[in-house]
Amino acid sequence: MNLLIIGSGAREHAFAKALAANARVQKIFLAPGNGGTAMMGGKVSNIPLKALQLDELLEFALRNQVALTVVGPEQPLEAGVVDLFRASGMKIIGPVKAAARLESSKSFAKDFMRRHGIPSAAYRVFRDEASAVSCIAGLTDDRFPQVIKASGLCAGKGVIIALDRREAIVALKEIFEDRIFGSAADEVVIEDFLHGQEASVFALTDGSQYRLFLSAQDHKRIGEGDTGKNTGGMGAYAPAPLVTPEVMRKIEELVIRPTLAGMAAEGCSYTGFLYVGLMIDRGEPSVVEFNARLGDPETQVVLPLLQSDLCDALLASVEGGLDTVPFDMRSGSAATVVMASCGYPDAFESGKLITIDPLAEDSDDVMIFHAGTAFDGESLITTGGRVLSVTALGSSLGESLERAYRTVGLIHFDGAVYRRDIGAKAL
Ligand code: AMP
Ligand code: GLY
Repeated sequence: MNLLIIGSGAREHAFAKALAANARVQKIFLAPGNGGTAMMGGKVSNIPLKALQLDELLEFALRNQVALTVVGPEQPLEAGVVDLFRASGMKIIGPVKAAARLESSKSFAKDFMRRHGIPSAAYRVFRDEASAVSCIAGLTDDRFPQVIKASGLCAGKGVIIALDRREAIVALKEIFEDRIFGSAADEVVIEDFLHGQEASVFALTDGSQYRLFLSAQDHKRIGEGDTGKNTGGMGAYAPAPLVTPEVMRKIEELVIRPTLAGMAAEGCSYTGFLYVGLMIDRGEPSVVEFNARLGDPETQVVLPLLQSDLCDALLASVEGGLDTVPFDMRSGSAATVVMASCGYPDAFESGKLITIDPLAEDSDDVMIFHAGTAFDGESLITTGGRVLSVTALGSSLGESLERAYRTVGLIHFDGAVYRRDIGAKAL
């Protein structure tokens, strides 16, 4: 059986590693993949197609008897890759375009949650600056901070937390007049600030049945102590101790089941991966966001902790039998530390030589997943903001962190930036 993975990040490298473990898989193609997937060899190879070349991807999949396609990032989902593949009878993991609105339109997601009584912050949606400013002007001081979000896709960077009225008004000017988020902010969601701690849970679903991966915690800010700009994610660990079995039960009852049932009832059955970003305050979950895919870097800790075969579970989610397929997790913990280029998340350096000490990957418990890397002749060089995601497993979070950081110390490129406090809050 041949598989196609769409995307180029460390998440897609982690998918390739997990799927290659299935003996029935003959070939895995990554479109376009990265330097790390180019190095895997064996059944894994990169193809020169980008994630948004939908017609070419379909043609490739048909020509190469691809039995199943896995979509890593959100943009092809928003563009309708699942609708396109299914129309040709191809099996693919992800939601159709209309269901991917849970991620691609925050206004849709918020209205959907309101319709179905799913816990989330109180909000309003605006299409022009004047009405947004007049709403802000009418709020009493105790309603701040307020969170101002571009409704459309913004690579996790379209959110401004305004501590007071003045900051909110400045943010609205930047969004509506200076267009800092471009057309992603044609609609703007303004919502109440949620207190608590963040965690994410991930389900694989066929539209009615679902299976849960372990919970995880991302680190979105570039700086230690959660300071500085938002990034795509600088590190993660799983499981998140915050998501106790009791909290997980509430998340299933209050969020996951009503979301799947609500989407189905609205004629928009949701399939694929459902990522629920949550704020948990004294054991009570509230939804911060939905994503229509697995997270990056969360995938790099969640997939290595899946003991059962990923490929069999994905096939069951499209062919039936998701409720009975083995879906067991390893005990212990996983941590991943992202190494980024100097300057990220703003303009960053690239073309730097990467050296990895051969000792770095001497254990099955350590995995170096590539993101912004490529080969320049024989040399591995940096090509992106997030360069590598170094994952380690351990019997405890402390042990996995210690192994991950030891490995980071064996990798070098000029200007490498990484956070030294991944997982520190949970220790
Ligand atoms: P989002 O793209 O909606 O996930 O927002 C990005 C990040 O902004 C989240 O991971 C949170 O850290 C923060 N955030 C978003 N909405 C809220 C909220 N209502 N209250 C507090 N923090 C929030
Ligand atoms: N790490 C957050 C995301 O993938 O959206």
